[in-house]
Amino acid sequence: MPHSTATPIRMSPCAANTLNPIRKLVDHLVIKPNPDKEFLRLSIGDPSIFGNFNPPPELINAVAEQLQTSCYGYAPAHGLVNAREAIADYYTTDASPVTFNDVFITSGCSDALRICIDAVGSSERNILLPCPGFSVYQTICGNRGVESRFYNLDPDKDWEIDLDHMRSQLDENTAAILVTNPSNPCGSAFTKQHMLDILKVAEEYGVPIIADEIYHKMVFNGESHSFGELSRNVPIISCGGLAKRWLVPGWRVGWIIVHDRHQQLSEVRTGITRLCQVIIGSNTLIQAAIPQILATVPQSFYSETLTKLNFAANLLYTELCEVPELKPCMPQGAMYMMVKLQLDELFDIETDMEFVEKLISEQSVFLLPANIFGMDGWVRIVLTVPDDILRDACNRIATFCQEHSTKRCTEKKKAIEEL
Ligand SMILES: Cc1ncc(COP(=O)(O)O)c(C=O)c1O
Repeated sequence: MPHSTATPIRMSPCAANTLNPIRKLVDHLVIKPNPDKEFLRLSIGDPSIFGNFNPPPELINAVAEQLQTSCYGYAPAHGLVNAREAIADYYTTDASPVTFNDVFITSGCSDALRICIDAVGSSERNILLPCPGFSVYQTICGNRGVESRFYNLDPDKDWEIDLDHMRSQLDENTAAILVTNPSNPCGSAFTKQHMLDILKVAEEYGVPIIADEIYHKMVFNGESHSFGELSRNVPIISCGGLAKRWLVPGWRVGWIIVHDRHQQLSEVRTGITRLCQVIIGSNTLIQAAIPQILATVPQSFYSETLTKLNFAANLLYTELCEVPELKPCMPQGAMYMMVKLQLDELFDIETDMEFVEKLISEQSVFLLPANIFGMDGWVRIVLTVPDDILRDACNRIATFCQEHSTKRCTEKKKAIEEL
């Protein structure tokens, strides 16, 4: 039967089930900022935006040198051998050796996560995800029909996992536990003991861990451990990449590292290799520069980045602690701070979304509502913002809270009446 040329073509169920809550919010936000105030975006986890967190010259030189060679062709789908070797050396510890066979290079950490979820998940199985957590996990599970099950993080214990709650979510159909450490959105970094406790639960249930370690070593004070390094019996599939620690999210290079002491993941490795072959790997030019990047970027670059992030965290924490309607959580790492809204102290705001929308329209400050990470009543602020903008934003947030404060407005009204 002939179709009218105007017949709409329907999108597939896969596309219809693909939903990234961050993009949904950012792309469809209709609230207009206050035209009298510069728009301050403290919402996007891209350190390159403001020009105050730049990659080191060694990184640029490494790529520039490769540009002179012949990196024009396809690389092997799961990565160039010398790049995989360099990543393996970089992550090898005495307790946990890694070889190039354990490393798979991907198109960013998001692609690494997608491949891991595809390698273990199926429509009959569930994967445990953190709450609050990075929303892409749910996006990936959602369009593949893998059930997302959530375990709680406890803000009163530096966002440690509520292990009893995690246990209650596990069953014989759990394909993996996904953990993020250090965390987006929480800015938390687990202690070694807590990581060992998490491993104990995974071992009890015989479930592998997918560790999102894109913020590995981005811890302000104290040690930073990876699950692969600490695990003795639990198979770990770790995801990382250049995006955050090396400050180049746009270069789109990530990796998967398989830690499998007891050869439980042999079949999954084959699965990962096959899944890498779908798109013939990540950007060859940047992959080729990896050995030089990992060998030449000085330690001072990493520590200066952490010093700046820690300074921003302290600034935000100190300023926001002064606002009675807010309760900031001091981060230990990554690039984010979570702030609890004391909603019962704000007379005309009932949700984090309303807080964010009114803050944009009145003060032109954009924070992310944490409901998109699964946690109502909180907002997430990024730390990669220049100090003067952070101070300006804090002042505006303070003014906003004062203007919407039940208590402070009543007191002001009373004082005016008494005049
Ligand atoms: C926890 C977490 N995992 C993964 C990613 C994605 O990394 P990439 O840009 O390398 O895909 C992000 C990006 O913000 C993140 O915060």
